[in-house]
Amino acid sequence: MRIGIYPGSFDPLTYGHLDIIERATRICDKLIVGVLVNSAKKSLFTFEERLEILKHCCGEINSNIEIVSFGGLLVDFCRDNNISCIIRGLRAVSDFEYEITIASLNRRLAPDVETLFLMGKDENLFVSSSLVKEVAIYNGDISTLVPPYVSGKIRQKISSV
Ligand code: PNS
Repeated sequence: MRIGIYPGSFDPLTYGHLDIIERATRICDKLIVGVLVNSAKKSLFTFEERLEILKHCCGEINSNIEIVSFGGLLVDFCRDNNISCIIRGLRAVSDFEYEITIASLNRRLAPDVETLFLMGKDENLFVSSSLVKEVAIYNGDISTLVPPYVSGKIRQKISSV
C-alpha cells in the first residue's frame, strides 16, 4: 500500500491545493494531507482552523484522504507513519528553487522517501495562499481562487481583526 503525504501550511486552502490533493489521491492508495504546526510563518488561521477547513473541503473528494497536523521534521513523520512519498505542487519556475531545496534536504535525511511533483492546472498557476490573503484584505474577489467555504472563513477572520 503506497501512503503519500501532501504537506503544507494551507493558510488558507486554495483551489490550487485542492487540485493537487484530488490528483494525488489517484496516485496514492492513501493520501495524508499534513498541516504544519508551529511554522515560523505568521498565519492567518490557527492550525486547528486550517485542519477544520481542509476536513470540510476534502470531504467529498475521496475516502482515501486523512487530514492530520504534524510538527517536527517531515521525514520523521513519514518514517513514523510508513509514508513512502511526499507530494508537492509546482506552479511557476519560481517554485523550483524553494522546492528543490526542500526535496534535496529531505532526500539527504531520508533517502527512502521519494518526493513527487505535480504540475498545477494552468488556471491555478498563479494561485497562492499569500496572494489570496492580500486580495481578500483589500476586499477583492477571491471566488475563483478558493472554495466558497474558505472565502466565508477568510471574510469572518478579516472582519474580526
Ligand atoms: O506550504 P508550505 O509552507 O510551502 O509548506 C512547507 C513544508 C510544510 C512542506 C515544509 O516547511 C516542511 O516540511 N516543514 C516541516 C519541517 C521540516 O521537515 N523541515 C525540513 C525540510 S524544509
